Amino acid sequence: MNLPPFKLERYFAKYEFQTEYLLCTSDSESMPIADLLAMEKDAAEKFQQVWLGYTESQGSLALRREIGKLYETIQPEEILVHAGAEEAIFIFMFAAFNEYDHVIVHSPGYQSLTEVARAAGCDVSPWQAREENGWSLDLDELRHLMRTNTKAIILNTPHNPTGYLMSRADYEAVHKFAQERQLMLFSDEVYRESEYDPATRLPAACDLGDHAISLGVTSKTYGLAGLRIGWIATKNKKIYEKMASLKDYTTICSSAPSEFLAEVAMRNRAKLAERNIGIIKNNLAVIDDLFVRYSDLFSWVRPQAGSMGFPRLLKGNVEEFCDKLVKKAGVLLLPGSMYDDSRNHFRLGLGRKNLSQAVGKLEEFLPK
Ligand SMILES: Cc1ncc(COP(=O)(O)O)c(C=O)c1O
Repeated sequence: MNLPPFKLERYFAKYEFQTEYLLCTSDSESMPIADLLAMEKDAAEKFQQVWLGYTESQGSLALRREIGKLYETIQPEEILVHAGAEEAIFIFMFAAFNEYDHVIVHSPGYQSLTEVARAAGCDVSPWQAREENGWSLDLDELRHLMRTNTKAIILNTPHNPTGYLMSRADYEAVHKFAQERQLMLFSDEVYRESEYDPATRLPAACDLGDHAISLGVTSKTYGLAGLRIGWIATKNKKIYEKMASLKDYTTICSSAPSEFLAEVAMRNRAKLAERNIGIIKNNLAVIDDLFVRYSDLFSWVRPQAGSMGFPRLLKGNVEEFCDKLVKKAGVLLLPGSMYDDSRNHFRLGLGRKNLSQAVGKLEEFLPK
């Protein structure tokens, strides 16, 4: 297996815990365990009694039942719990692909969606989102990317890093395309339920047929990244079994305290999402105001969901800009080069409560 460094993670490793203002995170504001437990009457008491033995490899039934409520048609036995979405991506790619398979991956995007597929032996074709089209994907382009050995489409909507939310018509067309050609559709839905307008929420892919695998996590919409609880949901028994069997070589089962806390979180997911979307919307107002005042310096396609956007710096070099900003002002932005983007974009995180202070520091740094 040959995996190159995960650029974004290496960048964060350098700055995340030394920098005061993280203005580029992808997750929503988190909370202490006590606040989560306070969401239910007896939860604190029950948490003390959590048994610290091994847990069920597929995830506890109680947790899978709660996760199942995200979906219309999914049963607990169609959900496989993992250590974060990251483990699920890793396991899926190695379970699903063989050397010389071909996959089509939504790009730019979260690096492991491409890189782990490559490490599993696949040829990867980027399906390019274009800023000039509001970061949408072109279905004609998808047709041209098809090869005889294409096995899967990897889609991420709501999208990291642009906040793009696919239209219902396009989403259904991608599913139809995959079904007609017997392709798997791996649907990274870790930002689902963070749509600014709930009417725009797309159906979960796993509810649309056994060609699809939905990926979820507690980290993003629900703001609980420290739980490290992710999952896949699918009606595809073959891929489920293969993933379950591979997981015996990685984590075997999840952390018992995290499973308990994730169960509480998923039972209260509407409240958690509402709190976090509230923070994001307040932050968007601050950013809208900043970008109006600095329209000669920044442009963007405003996100429609999720906790980030991908603005463009209109003057200067974005890598130098980000480097000086973090060193002089203690504000972290993520240059687009972490996504192999060469068009001067940077990732802007919208999920943290201290965004206005971070923007204040950013403004002090900007040329007047
Ligand atoms: C699109 C996408 N998928 C998967 C993940 C992995 O999530 P986690 O770190 O919670 O495992 C991330 C994290 O940033 C992401 O943005």
